[in-house]
Amino acid sequence: MEVVIVPDATAGGELIAEAIAALLSRKPDALLGVATGSTPLPVYQALAAKVRSGAVDVSRARVCQLDEYVGLPEGHPESYRSVVLREVVEPLGLSESSFMGPDGSAEDIQAACEAYDRALAEAGGVDLQLLGIGTDGHIGFNEPCSSLASRTRIKTLTEQTRIDNARFFDDDIEQVPHHVITQGIGTILESRHPVLLATGEGKADAVARTVEGPVASVVPASALQLHPHATVVVDEAAASGLKLADYFRATYAAKPRWQGL
Ligand code: F6R
Repeated sequence: MEVVIVPDATAGGELIAEAIAALLSRKPDALLGVATGSTPLPVYQALAAKVRSGAVDVSRARVCQLDEYVGLPEGHPESYRSVVLREVVEPLGLSESSFMGPDGSAEDIQAACEAYDRALAEAGGVDLQLLGIGTDGHIGFNEPCSSLASRTRIKTLTEQTRIDNARFFDDDIEQVPHHVITQGIGTILESRHPVLLATGEGKADAVARTVEGPVASVVPASALQLHPHATVVVDEAAASGLKLADYFRATYAAKPRWQGL
């Protein structure tokens, strides 16, 4: 995998927004897989700024969710559908019809998961999948020991993830759902270009285990090592546990700029 160390979260957001803009200029109807949580916000802000300045045309872009809570009432502000509408679809001026996600309120969750995997495939597959990483190494909500071949399915959040996400629910862990629908690791690995962004010291250990540890289901993000074109963008703080940081810096500095991510 390619590891790019940037000074801070804003620089990471700008770099990934540039990669998305380059993708959309090659493929205007690209399917962008979007993550939620705090980490990707600088990407969406940088992309929205490019849309406003006319530097990128997103009019034919399509967006799909990575995961969704199970059991939140429809329209709940912290459902990932609401978050993606608020942080991505509206700021980019996309229509709701260009956006797809799994149905977290379906009666038959398993059928909804299978339907979502089919819908992604029928849409031609995800061109660029933006990912964050949990402090426990999860991608999407594939918690430790998820099958590396998993498909979209229901998962139970770890206590650590519910603690981490309580900040979105009035700091009240009781309000954080226990269950989620998440694209599986196998599903994520089918995207043409997974791009993981990690910022802050709290992610340093998970990043080091993802990049320099063995591929192991106990660190789900390490499965990205199996992808032929995975990119990990980290700020200095999140890179602080990487033994090979200098090598990654030198490699990226020597890369021809036109190649992009
Ligand atoms: C969210 C998601 C999660 C988050 C991860 C990090 O859609 O899939 O994997 O990316 O929990 O969350 P933040 O960015 O809030 O630290």
